[in-house]
Parts: sequence; C-alpha cells; structure tokens
Amino acid sequence: MAVCIDGKALAAEIKENLKTDVRNFTERFGRQITLAVVLVGNNPASEVYVRNKVKAAEFVGIKSLSFTLPENSEESDVTELIKNLSDDKSVDGILVQLPLPKHLSEDKILSLIPPEKDVDGFTAYNVGNSTLFKDAIVSCTPMGIMYMLNSIPVPLCGKNAVVIGRSNIVGKPVSMLLLKENCTVTICHSKTANIKEITKQADVLVVAIGKPKFVTADMVKDGAVVIDVGINRTESGLCGDVDFDAVKDKASYISPVPGGVGPMTIAMLMKNAYLCALRRENA
Ligand code: GUN
Repeated sequence: MAVCIDGKALAAEIKENLKTDVRNFTERFGRQITLAVVLVGNNPASEVYVRNKVKAAEFVGIKSLSFTLPENSEESDVTELIKNLSDDKSVDGILVQLPLPKHLSEDKILSLIPPEKDVDGFTAYNVGNSTLFKDAIVSCTPMGIMYMLNSIPVPLCGKNAVVIGRSNIVGKPVSMLLLKENCTVTICHSKTANIKEITKQADVLVVAIGKPKFVTADMVKDGAVVIDVGINRTESGLCGDVDFDAVKDKASYISPVPGGVGPMTIAMLMKNAYLCALRRENA
C-alpha cells in the first residue's frame, strides 16, 4: 500500500513560508510584489485555476491584477495588453492562462512576455536556459513535481524515470528536470508502441497525458513512485490520469488527484513571482 504524497499539505507549507519572504520583500523595497494574470475567454477549468491563483497570491501577500478578455478578442487586443504589462515597472510577473482560444497564436503571445517577468517559465529564453541547466525561471508544474519527489526519502540519481506526455507545459520540462537529477529518462506519448513494456521499467512514473485513469496497475512496477498530473472532469467527478485505487497497492509513493500536483503548481507560481520580483530588484 503506497504512501500518499500530500501536495496540498506541502503547498500549504511552502505558501506559509513565502508569506514571511514576501513581507520581508515589501519592507525592504517599500513596494508590493505584483502579479498580472491574463485570462482570455471563458474556459471553465481555466476560470477555476485563475481564481485559485489570485486567491493564493492574496494569501501570501502578493498583489494580483486580473485581466479577463472576451473569447472573441483580436490577437492585437491581447498583444497590446501584454506590451502594456511588460512596460509597467510595477508589474513583476505576467501570467497568460493557457489554453488560449484557438484563433490566437500562443507562440506569438507568449513571446511578448519579457523573460524576467515570465513567472510561468514558458518563454523560449527560460525553456532554453533551463534545458541547458543554466539559471532560469522553470515552469510551475514541473517544479512542483520535483519538489514532491524531493520530499520523499527516495534518491533520484540513477533511477529509471518514465514520463507519459510530451507537452511544453509538463512532459518536456519535467523530463529535463529529471535528467538534471541524473535519472535515465524515457518520454512516452500517444504514438509510443508497447507503452506498458516501458512503464513497467519505471522507478519513477510521471503521468501527464490527459486521459482519465490511463495508467492501470498492470503498467506499474512494484514499488514505483507515481506522480499523477492529470485533472480530468468525468461524470463521476474529478480524477487523474492514474487509476489511483488499483495503482496505490503497487506503488511505494503516489500523488492523489485532487490534492496532489494541482496545489503544488500554484505554490510554485507564488515562489516564481517572488523570485522574479527579487531579480528585478537585483537582489
Ligand atoms: N494551463 C495549464 N497549466 C497551466 C500553467 O501552469 N500555467 C498557465 N499559464 N496555464 C496553464
């Protein structure tokens, strides 16, 4: 029976510690850290995420500026807003909630965020530096996953890590972070042949494929560490990409959904906003 990696509790601890850091920042520099949150359209899941991010900012003492643009916005409406926020000296971090409506170019819009205000670590500059293992702002979900893995007494060095999913937000960056920790990393995706043969070799299995209960017990090695990044809304409620009830009997550690990676992503966003602000003050 696996031990649950309690992302909610870890995130609460991180945010509690950040409260002090943020208060010290405000006293030292005589200003509040400011995070701009941009939401385009009315994707219900994105609305929930954005609300939770704003709430977390308020909790740690970071000022948030929310911008909600209509679904049918022109690309120029969004680019203009990003340019204004880039020029605004009081803004430390800019977050554009993804996915954007289909008619807008994610690439073009994200490329307008200055690297030093890129709290999500989505720009080519930060992704590039992070991949080179140089100083960079690293995206929040992968950082949250690494924090969870580092919170358990299982060394990563030399382990077989298998990542299911190759997205820019999770799969690719978390693979690089696992590589940095000296794991042997395999990335599986929707076109991978014999996926079970590969996942059965995983000492650490990170699942970010967006398919409810995709990973079943027969795909998991005895004693593996399993991190479930999926958040799927099904008729029977919220569930992850892992069949938790079956896999928990096989794994040594497993993260739940909800209460696993989700809260960690938000805690890491707060940490990144704080780090962006510090860097902007050359501190
Ligand atoms: N959409 C899904 N995950 C994320 C995230 O971490 N940041 C942003 N901006 N959008 C997302």
